[in-house]
Amino acid sequence: MSLLRDHDLARAFDHASHTYDRLTSLNPGYRTDLLRSARRLRLPGEGAGLRVLDLGCGTGASTLALLRAAPRARITAVDASAGMLRRALAKPWPARVRFLHLTAEEVATAGEGPFDAVFAAYLFRNVTDPDAVLGSVRTLLRPGGRLAVHEYSLSGSPTHRALWSAVCHGLLIPAGTLTGDRALYRHLRHSVTAFDTAPAFAGRLGRAGFTGVRVAPVAGWQTGIVHTFLARNGSTTETEDTR
Ligand SMILES: C[S@@+](CC[C@H](N)C(=O)[O-])C[C@H]1O[C@@H](n2cnc3c(N)ncnc32)[C@H](O)[C@@H]1O
Repeated sequence: MSLLRDHDLARAFDHASHTYDRLTSLNPGYRTDLLRSARRLRLPGEGAGLRVLDLGCGTGASTLALLRAAPRARITAVDASAGMLRRALAKPWPARVRFLHLTAEEVATAGEGPFDAVFAAYLFRNVTDPDAVLGSVRTLLRPGGRLAVHEYSLSGSPTHRALWSAVCHGLLIPAGTLTGDRALYRHLRHSVTAFDTAPAFAGRLGRAGFTGVRVAPVAGWQTGIVHTFLARNGSTTETEDTR
């Protein structure tokens, strides 16, 4: 198996940053799915007075989704890859959005927080120790703060696993090979099959101390392949739907 971690992964994303936006724009639903997951945070008052963290912001697609879901929130967006961040910073942002070159593992010790909500899109299957990062997210969130994880996490059905392999072999790895990023797109394939299934990641969130854990599918071809995971830091009595 060819998983990339830490420094090697950041270097691979640095290289892929030049073509990342073009490649993801070929994926039907990439941006609308991010927006749906960000909206599932259900931040009140368009996010007025709230501080939100985008963990693993990449070139800013997830940051933009957060900004649309909560246009009045103050957003801190962090990423381990300087190249991905450079692409994000080249885009126009309101002053309420700031970008920091930090790993997910470093944010809590860098004196950031507390946050009212954390959004992590396509991050968790990339980190070496997801439990440690979830623990760190809990220290960054206020009590009752909200977490939305948008992630490639297979349903557990053989059909979805086979579809994922077919998309990787037929599309993603050939496209990544053309741009000189074969290792990263092979990592993408294997990181998904090696990562928790959706029920397993929901269990991991519960064991990390998150409450009110819910899992919602995304639409289109990624149904059963990408999920939104929603949870709270601490007790919640609210019943929320996940549309
Ligand atoms: C697939 S991209 C997704 C970017 C963005 N969230 C989006 O939805 O388009 C994953 C990002 O996570 C970042 N990443 C991976 N491991 C990380 C870590 N340990 N700490 C911070 N960022 C990390 C990578 O550099 C990359 O930019």
